[in-house]
This record gives sequence, structure tokens and C-alpha cells, in this order.
Amino acid sequence: MAAAALIDDLLAALGERGVLTSPTDRARFETGWRYGKGTARCVVRPASTAEVATALQVCGRHGARVVPQGANTGLVAASTPDASGAMVVLSLERLNQTIDVDVRGRTVRVDGGVLLSQLNERLARDGFWFPVDLGADPQIGAMVATNTGGTRLLKYGDVRHNLLGLEVVLGDGRVLALPNRLRKNNTGLDGKQLFVGTTGVFGVVTQAVLQCAPLPKQRATALVACRDGDAVLALLGALEGELGDVLSAFEVMSDKALAAVFAHQPNLRKPFAELPRYAVLVELASTLPADALALEAVLEARLGAFLETAGDAVPDVLVGKADEFWAMRHHISESLRSEGRMLAFDISVPRSLLPRFTADVEALLAADWPAVRLCDYGHWGDGGTHLNLVWREDAVGKPYADVVAALQPRVYELAVKGYDGSYSAEHGVGPHNQRYYDAYTDPIVKQLCGLLGDFCDPGDRLGTVRLDGA
Ligand code: LAC
Ligand code: ZN
Repeated sequence: MAAAALIDDLLAALGERGVLTSPTDRARFETGWRYGKGTARCVVRPASTAEVATALQVCGRHGARVVPQGANTGLVAASTPDASGAMVVLSLERLNQTIDVDVRGRTVRVDGGVLLSQLNERLARDGFWFPVDLGADPQIGAMVATNTGGTRLLKYGDVRHNLLGLEVVLGDGRVLALPNRLRKNNTGLDGKQLFVGTTGVFGVVTQAVLQCAPLPKQRATALVACRDGDAVLALLGALEGELGDVLSAFEVMSDKALAAVFAHQPNLRKPFAELPRYAVLVELASTLPADALALEAVLEARLGAFLETAGDAVPDVLVGKADEFWAMRHHISESLRSEGRMLAFDISVPRSLLPRFTADVEALLAADWPAVRLCDYGHWGDGGTHLNLVWREDAVGKPYADVVAALQPRVYELAVKGYDGSYSAEHGVGPHNQRYYDAYTDPIVKQLCGLLGDFCDPGDRLGTVRLDGA
């Protein structure tokens, strides 16, 4: 059937607001934040679950492939169409009306297209928040499909840990409603888990039931200078041992990552005269009010005691200035992009091995790629490290694609095979890392994904990645 007939049928089903066809209207849906750039046949914007189902059925009849998209803030190119010009982007941005809070239950039923910021604004009225906390502002359905992590995973877990129920439209338009809001429900297969972290290839998440967390009444923040990775792990152990109940973030920033921040963010000032190898952003959070617990004084006292025992390994500590320290943390990624060429990694390894793993990558670069700088930072409490590599093309003397082709497989191989690690700790699977998914995923898991795909998306219409290894 002709492509024009597809658009006509989509327009008939969804109306003018529901279908965008002009290049100008399509543009923001076609380019990802970091990776991913393609061309869409059109963008559909259903405003209800029924419209999502209809859109998928129409696309199915016309043999069109569909890529579900949230706020398009992902980092593995999973939400943008390919270059064929034949894919339909299914944006959830108009499916954003429901935010239904059960205050006594401390749960919320929320449409897939609701933004994280929009959800948290509403939850704050009841003293709650959804604590999967990111620098970006994604949509909830896409957060489920990616199983996002973020900076407070250490305390609250990822999306999976906070997800109670789900509504999903399968590839052929069938609606699977699992509106569970029970915290305990051991009644066989937990069907919703099929759609968590599987990048929308089994279905489009149209609604989620989430567990919310009570908003902390106070936070205390510090920046701790550490001489090396072992000092960072010693600090983490001490904090978990003494303050584990209230430890809510443990974010590590290397000297090279921070140097980029201060080079490109004129409003931010260097916190230490000399940048240490690692600066650790430590945050405590508590629902106890300040008159019941002097959180900042507790943090200051415990860090003071740690400083005394650590000696040279921990040269300095600054307490307070939460906004400034978080601004440094959240500006790393964009500052590194301003440095030249960048290859980003989102790796996890058993956290006790982070210093050794990082040293191995440094040694690899020093030996073969001395002009490539390792600017690492990350969520060390969860074993997560963004080992971002940065270089100036003229200093390296090779095209971008050659450097990526040489370094990316080596770093992933070291992480996965050498350290029992993951090549995608929290950013998910997309075209950016598809070939590593293919290389490192157990064949039985891929086979299982093939069976699930046949069942959930019989026309093989959904997504830009393949989890079945085909
Ligand atoms: C971060 C994103 C890149 O941690 O995951 O900043
Ligand atoms: Zn991260």
C-alpha cells in the first residue's frame, strides 16, 4: 500500500493534531539528545490508550515499523527512527492527563507520557516524590522501557524497584492491563517485568502504577576530596556503616571531568585549590525534621572523624553548598561535549573493582591512545561509571569513527569479560550498543526474546533494536 494511504488512514483515526508530517514538525522527534538521527515517515501523537492501539493497528495494516518515543532524552539512540524514512514515530507526549494519587497507599497511577517533572510537581502536594532522579526530564513510560537509574538509585533503587503495575499496548494493538497497586502479589509470572528495560520492543507503555517515596524534610551535602579510587571506596564503606540509613547519593567526579566543567561553566567555581583525583558528592536525606535530627551536623562530625583516620588519602571536605555541588555534577556531560570529540560509556562493574578497572582503561589509553583523555565520573555506590573519553581530533589524527571502532569494543570487552561488568548500566539498549547486546547476551535469553516478540509483536513492528539476536 502506498505511504500516502498510511498517512490518510492515520489522519482519519487520530485527527490533525495526532499526525505530524512536515519536516519542520518532525524535526524534534528525529534527532536524539546524544546519538541517533534519522527520518520519520510521520509522527503520530495518540492522546489515549485506545488511540495508541488504533495507531499500531493502522501501521500494522500498512506494514510500517514504529518507534515508540518519550521525551527523546535517551542516550543510546533507541527513540529515534532509522534513516530509511519509512518508520513512524509514536510519541506519547499527548498521553499525559492522568496522575491519580492514592495518598494512603502512597502510590500513583500515571499516564506514560507524563514528564518526570510534572509527576513530581503533583506528588509534592501530597508530600511525596518519585525518587528515580535524573539530570534529564524524561516521560514515565519511557523510564519504564529503559529502567532508568540515576543519582539516587543507591537509596531508592531503579524504576523496576518502584514499579507496581503497568498498562501496555502490544504491537498488534491488544491492550495488556496490569493495574496492580499491591506491594505484595506472588501470583505467578510478574508480567509487567517483560516491559521493563526492554526498550519498547514488546509493547508501548501507556500507563504505570508507581510507588512514591515521602519527600525528605532535610538534606545535607558535602564534597569530599579523595586521593584515589581506594580512598573513595573506603569513604563509601564508612558512610554506609555509620550513615547507611540516610545516605541518598554518592556521586564521584574525576579531576578531568571537573576540569571540563570549570572550563566551560563560567558561573561555577573550583571548590578546591587543586582538584583531587576524585571529588565525591555525598548526600544524606531524612524524613525527620531538623529539630529531631541535625543532619548536617551529623554529616560534618562523621566526615571529620573519617578525615582524621584517612590521613593523606582524604585531603579535604566541604560541607553545605548543595546547589553548587549538584550543578557541577549535572554539567559534566555537556561540558565534556564542549571539549572536543567524546565517546561516552555507561558501564558497571562490581563496585569493589572500580579502581582497578579504571586503572586498566587508563593503562590501555596510555599505551595506545595517549591523546585520548579519560574523564570518568559516575554512580560509584551502584558500581556505575561513566568512563567518558575525550579527545581533540587534530591531536589524535584519526577520524572519529576510527577511534570509536578501535576503543569501544576494547573497553566493553574489558568491562564485560575482564570484570563481570555491564556494557549498559542504566542507559538501556539501543542502536548505539546493539552490537554489544548481540555479542554479550546469552543465546537462550535472545531466543526467549524471539518467542516473546512473536507473541507480543507478531508483525515485528516495534522498536529500533532487536533483542532476539536476529
Ligand atoms: C549521568 C547520565 C549520563 O549520570 O547517566 O549524568
Ligand atoms: Zn548516569
